[in-house]
Amino acid sequence: MQSQTDLKQKLENISKVFKIEDVLSIKTSNEYTQKYYQVNKIPYSLFHTKTDLIYMGVSRDGIYKEKDLLEAAKTVEKYLKNLNGNKVLELATGRGANSFYLAQKFPAAKFYGVDISRGQLDFAFKKAKGINNYFPNFGDYHDLSKFESGTFDIVFVVEALCYSMDNDKVLAEVYRVLKKNGVFIIFDGYLNKKINQLTSDEKIASGLTEKGMAVEKFELYDSLISKAKENNFKIEFEENVSQFVIPTMERFERKAALFFKFPKLAKLSLYVFPKEFLYNAISGYLSATLMKINVCSYMITVLKKDNFLNND
Ligand SMILES: C[S@@+](CC[C@H](N)C(=O)[O-])C[C@H]1O[C@@H](n2cnc3c(N)ncnc32)[C@H](O)[C@@H]1O
Repeated sequence: MQSQTDLKQKLENISKVFKIEDVLSIKTSNEYTQKYYQVNKIPYSLFHTKTDLIYMGVSRDGIYKEKDLLEAAKTVEKYLKNLNGNKVLELATGRGANSFYLAQKFPAAKFYGVDISRGQLDFAFKKAKGINNYFPNFGDYHDLSKFESGTFDIVFVVEALCYSMDNDKVLAEVYRVLKKNGVFIIFDGYLNKKINQLTSDEKIASGLTEKGMAVEKFELYDSLISKAKENNFKIEFEENVSQFVIPTMERFERKAALFFKFPKLAKLSLYVFPKEFLYNAISGYLSATLMKINVCSYMITVLKKDNFLNND
C-alpha cells in the first residue's frame, strides 16, 4: 500500500516537469534507440559508472557494490568453463564491458559482439584495440547472418532483448548459431502482470519507464519462455533476482529524486538538455518502486539448445 501511494506521488512529481502523454506517445525504433544512445554517450559515464558496466548489479546481500555489476560476466564465465568453450557472442554488446572482461580472462577464446548504436560501440571498439580476442561489430541482433550456424558455445545478452519487438526472430537466430549443448544467457527486466491486471497508475508508470529508456514494450516473462520453448530451447536455469537489483535501482532513484525535487529548475533543464537524456530521470525515479510492487521483475535465464529435438 505504502508503495502504491509512493507511485502516485511520483507520478504527480513527474507531471510537474514532463507532459506524461508526450512521453507515453513516443514511438521507439532502431533509429530512436541509436539517437538515445548517442545523446546519452557522456551522461551515462557521468551518472552511472565509469567502468562502462551500465546495467543492474545483482546485490545478493541487499547492499550495492560495484562488483555486483559483474554478475552477468561471471555467469557467462561459469558456463564457459563448464562447456570448455572457446567462442562466445554477445548480443547488444554496448560498450563491451562484459565481453572485454571475459576476453581478458579467457585469452584462448574468441568473443564477438553486435550492437546497433555507434554511441555505445565507440567504447567497445576502443576496448577491442587493446586485445586480440574481442570483435565488436555494427549489426542488428535480429539478423545474425554474418555468423555461421552451429559455431558458438554461448550467446548472451544483458538488458537488451527488451528492445526487440520480434524476439522470436532473435531466438531462432540464436538457436541457429549455437553449437549443440550451447546456451543462451539472458539478463533482463519484464512486465510481471498482464496490462489488464495493472492499476491505471501502474500502467502509466510502466509505460513511462519503458519510454524513458527507449524501450517500446516490456514483455511478460511467460511469453518469452513460451517462445523459447517453441524455438526448441530447453530451460536450463532461471532465477528471479528482482529483489537483488533494487539496490542499484535505488541509486538511480536517489539521483532522480533530486531532479524532481526542484520542478522549476527541472523544467528549465528542458531548454538545455535533450529530452532523450532527461527522460532517463523518469525511469530512474520509477524502476525500484515498480519492482517493489511486483509490476516488473528481473530474471536471469539460461536456455539450452536441446539435442533431443533437433539433429542440426
Ligand atoms: C541497456 S543497453 C545494454 C548494455 C549492453 N549490454 C552493455 O553491455 O553495454 C541496450 C543496448 O542494446 C542495444 N540494442 C538495442 N536494440 C538492438 C538491436 N536490434 N540490435 C543490436 N543491439 C541493440 C543498444 O544499442 C544498447 O547498446
